[in-house]
Amino acid sequence: MTSHPTRPFEGQKPGTSGLRKKTPVFMQPGYLENFVQSTFDALGGVAGNVLVLGGDGRYFGREATQCILKMAAANGVARVIVGQGAWLSTPAASNLIRKRGADGGLILSASHNPGGPEADFGVKYNMANGGPAPEAVTEAIFARTMEIDSYRKLDAPDVNLEMVGESRLGEMIVEIVDPVSAYADMMEEIFDFKALRGLFHEGFTLAMDSMCAITGPYAVEIFENRLGAPKGTVVHEQPLPDFGGMHPDPNPTWAHELMETLMGPGAPDFGAASDGDGDRNMILGRGIYVSPSDSLAVIAANAHLVPGYASGLKGVARSMPTSAAVDKVAQKLGLDCYETPTGWKFFGNLMDAGRVSLCGEESFGTGSDHVREKDGLWAVLMWLNIIAVRGLGVAEIMADHWEEYGRNYYSRHDYEVLPNDIANAMLGDLRDRLEGLKGQKVQGLVVESADEFCYTDPVDGAVSAGQGFRILFEGGSRVVLRLSGTGTEGATLRVYLERYEAGPEGLTEDPQAALAPIIAATEDLVGIRARTGRTGPNVIT
Ligand code: G6P
Ligand code: ZN
Repeated sequence: MTSHPTRPFEGQKPGTSGLRKKTPVFMQPGYLENFVQSTFDALGGVAGNVLVLGGDGRYFGREATQCILKMAAANGVARVIVGQGAWLSTPAASNLIRKRGADGGLILSASHNPGGPEADFGVKYNMANGGPAPEAVTEAIFARTMEIDSYRKLDAPDVNLEMVGESRLGEMIVEIVDPVSAYADMMEEIFDFKALRGLFHEGFTLAMDSMCAITGPYAVEIFENRLGAPKGTVVHEQPLPDFGGMHPDPNPTWAHELMETLMGPGAPDFGAASDGDGDRNMILGRGIYVSPSDSLAVIAANAHLVPGYASGLKGVARSMPTSAAVDKVAQKLGLDCYETPTGWKFFGNLMDAGRVSLCGEESFGTGSDHVREKDGLWAVLMWLNIIAVRGLGVAEIMADHWEEYGRNYYSRHDYEVLPNDIANAMLGDLRDRLEGLKGQKVQGLVVESADEFCYTDPVDGAVSAGQGFRILFEGGSRVVLRLSGTGTEGATLRVYLERYEAGPEGLTEDPQAALAPIIAATEDLVGIRARTGRTGPNVIT
C-alpha cells in the first residue's frame, strides 16, 4: 500500500522562503507528508522527474529526508540526487539542480532560524532553474494543502545516506553525492584561486564563522584545503542538529563572537559568517562592519576585477528595503538597476531573462547568476578576490567607495515576537493614514511621498501587492516598514532606515547617530514604541 489517507493541516502556507514551522509541528504524523505531496501535486505530478534533496543538517533533517525519498519513490520520481548525510547548502543545492539538469529540488532548512527539537524546521521547493518556487507555485501548493485527502509513500527500509553512490528505492534511483565538491569546483571557475592562494600565503588572516551550520564543510574545503589558509581559519565548522545552541543568523547581534574578534585587539584582516543553510553572509574587516547594502554596492563596483565577471555585469537588482547604495554604482556604470520585493525568488526571472547578473538584499543576502539563490561563501570569495587584486583592506575599500559614491547610512531595527493583532493594527492604521502623510513635517523632516510597494515583474507581468510601506523624506532619506515573512512566532516588525550623505564631509558618522532624526520621525509617524510597549528594537543590523 503506497496510498495513505490524510486530512488537511491548517496553515501550510509557504512564506518568504518555503514552509517554516516549529519542529514539533513538522514532526506531527502526516504533516511533512501532506506538504510534500501537495508540492508534488501542485507541480502536476513528479513522475519521471529528477530531484535534488538535502538540507542544512538541522534536527529532523535526516528523518525528513528518508520520508521524502519514500514519497518520491511512490510518486514515480526517476532519480533523487541527495547530499551525503542529507547535507546540502542552499546555494550548493541550486547549483546541483542546474548542473545536473534536474526538474527541481527540496531543501530542508529553516535558514537562519535556530534548529533543534523545540526550534524551527522548514521545507522549500526549488524549480528547474535552481531558484525558489515563484508565488504562483507556492500559492498552488498552499491551495492543495487545504484539500489534500491522501499521500503516497513507499513502505521500505531507510536508505543509507552516508555512502556515496547509487542504490534503488523501489523503481527509483537514489544517488548519494559528496555535497561539497561540485560547489567548490564552481567557485574555482569563478574566482582567481591562484591570487587567493597568494593572499593567504602572504599571511592574510581570515576568521570564518560557520555558526555550527552547513557552510562548515564547504568553508574548510575551500579556504583551508584548496586555498591554503591555516587550519582553524574556519570556526564552528561542524554542522550540528541544534547549531550548538547558536542562532545561525550572521548579523552583529547573533554573530557577536565574530564581531568581538574583529573589533578587538589583534583582529584578523577579514571576518565573515554564514547562516544555517549557507545562503547569507556577513562581511567584516578589522575594526569595521560592512552593511549588506554597502557590500552589494562594493561588489557591483568591483566585480569586473573577478574572472567570472571580467566582461562586466548585465545589470543589478536589490530588494526594495535594501539601500540605494548599489543604485549609485549602477548609475555610474550605466547598468540597469531593478527594485524588487523582499525575497530571493523575485530575482530569478530577471536572471533567467539575462537582465541582471548581481543581486542583493539588506537581509545579508548577496549573489549572482552563477546559481539562483543567494550565496554566502560566494560573497566572501568576491570580497577576498577584490582585496587580492586591489591590495587594500576592508576599511580602505569602504572609505574609497563612500568618497566616490557618497554614503547611504543604513540600519534595520527589528521588533521581534510582537502580538499579531498589535502589529497588524499598527500597520493597518498606517495604511489608512498614508495618503495624508505627504507634506507633513516631523522632526525637521518633510514627507515627500508615502506608499505601499507594489511590484510588477518586468519579465512575466506578475503583480505582487502589499510589499511594505515606504515613507520618503525630502532630501533622500526614507523609512520602510514591513512585517517579516520568515518568522515562526508572532509578528516581527522590520524598520529599515536610510539617509544619503553625498560627502566629502560627514562620511564617517556612526550610523545610529546619523539616522537619529529618521528614527525619531518614524516614532512620531507610526508610534511603534507607544503601541507595542517596547523600549526599542531587539535586533539592530
Ligand atoms: C529569506 C529570503 C530572503 C529574504 C529574507 C527576509 O532569507 O531568502 O530573500 O530577504 O528571508 O525575510 P523577512 O520576510 O523575514 O524579512
Ligand atoms: Zn538562509
